[in-house]
Amino acid sequence: MTKHLLEVKDLCKWYEQDKNRYLVLKNLDFKVEQGSFVVVMGKSGSGKTTLLNILGLLDNFNEGSYVFNGQDVTKMTENQRCSFRNNHIGFIFQQFYLIESLTVAQNIELPLLYHGGYSSEQRIDMVKKSLQDVELEEKFKSYPNELSGGQQQRISIARALVNEPDVILADEPTGALDWKTGLKIIDILVKLNKQNKTIIMVTHDSDLKKYATHCVFLKDGIFSEEDNI
Ligand SMILES: Nc1ncnc2c1ncn2[C@@H]1O[C@H](COP(=O)(O)OP(=O)(O)OP(=O)(O)O)[C@@H](O)[C@H]1O
Ligand SMILES: [Mg+2]
Repeated sequence: MTKHLLEVKDLCKWYEQDKNRYLVLKNLDFKVEQGSFVVVMGKSGSGKTTLLNILGLLDNFNEGSYVFNGQDVTKMTENQRCSFRNNHIGFIFQQFYLIESLTVAQNIELPLLYHGGYSSEQRIDMVKKSLQDVELEEKFKSYPNELSGGQQQRISIARALVNEPDVILADEPTGALDWKTGLKIIDILVKLNKQNKTIIMVTHDSDLKKYATHCVFLKDGIFSEEDNI
């Protein structure tokens, strides 16, 4: 039987403004298999980031259910959600969000420090392994402002990988990069997917659909299989 890593049922998300309810995600139903590379597309404002933030437990939803690896996320306390997020989910954002005052190695090490329980030797080994995955071992001691945008994004991928998460959520990871630099990022994500990492990536770039095992389009709060954006 196929193993589903994520299962979302009847999920609704709305915002309230001046007593009006503004529905962003309407009864979404979907499952993501372990090892998938899901590409999510849709117009600006269609709810892609909202969905990714919900999947990454950075945001709550109003109705429906979300089961991650057999665990109902709605039943978790805030503390459990935080440690679950740190242990199981890796994030990559359009704007990298590296800490300028820390070296590359220290940035990548942060999720391991939040996790706790690793010796400093273990942490160094794990950081080095992540840097190998993004082919930037030589930047171990550099600071983020000594790197190009593409290299900074690769470091943020290394940081997302270091805890060996079950899923990588990427919100427009190539959005701040030129086309060629962006392709290098996609190459790395494709390589990780071939190693059976599950990836969910939001993008505006329809050329990137070809790298996906599944592609969905968000429109008016629901999924459509067709390219109608
Ligand atoms: N905190 C909030 N309060 C109220 N409305 C919000 C909030 N966050 C998002 N929205 C609204 O929800 C809708 C979906 O926003 P979201 O950021 O998910 O879109 P998106 O598809 O990621 O867009 P883009 O492609 O521009 O990044 C938008 O109409 C937005 O204005
Ligand atoms: Mg967005």
